[in-house]
Amino acid sequence: MNIDRLVNASAIETCTVDFLRIGPLTRLEQINLDGPVVLGAHCVARRSTIGRYTVAGDYCRFTDCDVGAFCSFGDNVLLNAGTHPKDWFSTSLFACNPTFWDWASEYRDAKRDGYPSFQWRKSNKVGNDVWIGANVVILSGVDIGDGAIIGANSVVTCNVMPYSVVAGAPARPRSKRFDDQTISALIDSHWWTLPVEKLLSLPFGDVRATLRALNSLQPDDDVFPTHVGSVD
Ligand SMILES: CC(C)(COP(=O)(O)OP(=O)(O)OC[C@H]1O[C@@H](n2cnc3c(N)ncnc32)[C@H](O)[C@@H]1OP(=O)(O)O)[C@@H](O)C(=O)NCCC(=O)NCCS
Repeated sequence: MNIDRLVNASAIETCTVDFLRIGPLTRLEQINLDGPVVLGAHCVARRSTIGRYTVAGDYCRFTDCDVGAFCSFGDNVLLNAGTHPKDWFSTSLFACNPTFWDWASEYRDAKRDGYPSFQWRKSNKVGNDVWIGANVVILSGVDIGDGAIIGANSVVTCNVMPYSVVAGAPARPRSKRFDDQTISALIDSHWWTLPVEKLLSLPFGDVRATLRALNSLQPDDDVFPTHVGSVD
């Protein structure tokens, strides 16, 4: 489902359109979805892809992101936080964003000799089954591997390995969710591509039993397009 523009103008009610559910005052522009997605109140999502069964809390912001399936974001997560020029004469928008102040006539009418172009942000790729705690900032260009966990209040400045737990500002590896063999098996299983009715029959609480059950699935079982979210 492609959404060109959608705003929930209600300050109170949640709005459901097909398989998208958005909270009060949330707005979307140029969003691509492939299954049910929930965004809380006051979220902004622009020019992004969001995978099925991903849920975000209130006040989350996605811009130029590719987010996988089955992700969980706490409140106030800023993905793909933009940058300002560090080594220019000024970091201000007056110097690096030619349109931002155009509404002010003195700026609009001022003569300019050329205008250097500046790249605000690259993109963010977030894998599948990623859990991001509340109040997290993810800097532009950073990739988050499948199954990773980002602790509350983290600032993520570099790529996060699959199934690792990182936290802090800057976010540093704290632990891994499973041993390396289990992590490889989970990544190789691409379980996030399976139809949800197959997933719901798995014994989620026991990762080894789940992997055995996944291995016993028939090769001709229907699969969704794979969302590749691993870090190189
Ligand atoms: C990341 C998280 C899942 C880790 O949980 P955990 O595995 O029980 O963590 P541990 O207790 O083993 O912590 C490991 C280390 O990381 C530190 N740590 C954990 N979370 C941290 C955080 N958010 N920021 C800074 N350090 C953190 C711990 O202090 C500990 O440090 P130590 O080894 O020096 O004692 C949890 O701390 C967290 O942040 N959860 C998110 C909660 C949230 O935002 N929920 C919103 C709804 S989605």
